[in-house]
Amino acid sequence: MASDTNPSPGFKRRSFLGALGSTAAAGAANAQETPAAKSAPKRIRAGLVGAGNRGSYLARASDQLGKDGEDIEIVAVCDIYQPRRERVATRFRAKEYKRSIDLVNDPNVDVVLVATPDRLHATHALEAIRAGKDVYSEKPVTHWQQFDQLKELVRAVREHKAVYQMGTQRLANPVWRQAADSIKRGSIGKPVHVQMGYFRRGDSGERGMPIDDPNAKPGPDLDWEAFQGDAPRHSFSIERFFQWRMFMDYSGGPCTDNNVHFLSLMIKALGLDFPSRVVALGGKYVFNGSREVPDTFDMVAEYPAGLNFVFMGTYANDVPVDTVVRGTEGTLTVKDEPDGMVQPLAGVTRRPQGLGYGIDVNSEHLRDFYRSVRTREKPQGDIELAYRTQVLLIMAMRSFMERKVAAFDAAAESIVMA
Ligand SMILES: NC(=O)c1ccc[n+]([C@@H]2O[C@H](COP(=O)([O-])OP(=O)(O)OC[C@H]3O[C@@H](n4cnc5c(N)ncnc54)[C@H](O)[C@@H]3O)[C@@H](O)[C@H]2O)c1
Repeated sequence: MASDTNPSPGFKRRSFLGALGSTAAAGAANAQETPAAKSAPKRIRAGLVGAGNRGSYLARASDQLGKDGEDIEIVAVCDIYQPRRERVATRFRAKEYKRSIDLVNDPNVDVVLVATPDRLHATHALEAIRAGKDVYSEKPVTHWQQFDQLKELVRAVREHKAVYQMGTQRLANPVWRQAADSIKRGSIGKPVHVQMGYFRRGDSGERGMPIDDPNAKPGPDLDWEAFQGDAPRHSFSIERFFQWRMFMDYSGGPCTDNNVHFLSLMIKALGLDFPSRVVALGGKYVFNGSREVPDTFDMVAEYPAGLNFVFMGTYANDVPVDTVVRGTEGTLTVKDEPDGMVQPLAGVTRRPQGLGYGIDVNSEHLRDFYRSVRTREKPQGDIELAYRTQVLLIMAMRSFMERKVAAFDAAAESIVMA
């Protein structure tokens, strides 16, 4: 359990917002104070929702930041699967919750870390924001079928003046700020074409997800209903539960799982708004069986300022492409290598090392979130960037699934398929 259970000044204001229960009322309350006037708790007490692979990492990294002097503590853990919940809660002597709504309403929780499967991110983030908490949410912001929930989340974050950090941690690599500055200074003239990609060999990220217990069944220790959220109903299966990334109801494949990281970087660096049109093609060209999500996915997004963004990728071959922004007066090649540029040859066991920044983007991105919770300034992956990134993902997924061109009507904030 948490050693510091006294409600902090920051909590008092948040629980007031939570008690109001309506976003309109909360918005009115917020209108009377600027973000700077909000007080953040001295000790930040974090609650984790989703204690699987990534959630365990977020808890460990937050705990480490606490040990390194950031005054952060993991005080609560929620998971609908008992063994994972107990494992992580025991490690941090945190309170266990079976239901996320009970965790977000715990007055000892100041911020909520969301690391459940994609389809549940918006639900948990909304619950937390309506309870007056700040949120670090894993990517993608929502599932690709949840455009309405996305807009609801964006509205709620704005109205509550909550801190919301999208968990695309590569944003913490300073090379992207340098790229943005360079482009803003006009180094390449008007950017007109972007080339980017993510290539990997194998289906380890989907078929390779660990099965903790091949005999697991729904019951008091595994809430299958809560796992499914608003997804179409299926009878329980070990694959759907433990290897959910293989299925379209819970995931989207390369576009929403990995490409989202890189798309968010470029959208931020170029200051891109919403795309005007998006087309995407791909399929299951290599990995089959019960896997539903594509292994190969290429996308072209056209932006209103006059720019095409081409994103390529397959999980059948890991030969990469350079990240290139082509402008009317020059070309920018971005090397996104947080660990440095010295790469050992194949067979040499030495780790890549140190000409670069040598930072751990994962913990730096969390640190940026906790800093924002204290300062009330926008984090680097704020809700506006999250919104623009997620609209692009949803348009790409719909184009791929419906075999049409997805267009964005900015005035109506709607996606039109043609
Ligand atoms: N930023 C990154 O680099 C990175 C890396 C890995 C995963 N992720 C993201 O993290 C999220 C989780 O991925 P993972 O690999 O940890 O999956 P996982 O299956 O290991 O963990 C998900 C956990 O959520 C739990 N859960 C399911 N429904 C729940 C509910 N209603 N309430 C509470 N808990 C619930 C599951 O029991 C499971 O323990 C995904 O959205 C993924 O995209 C991000």
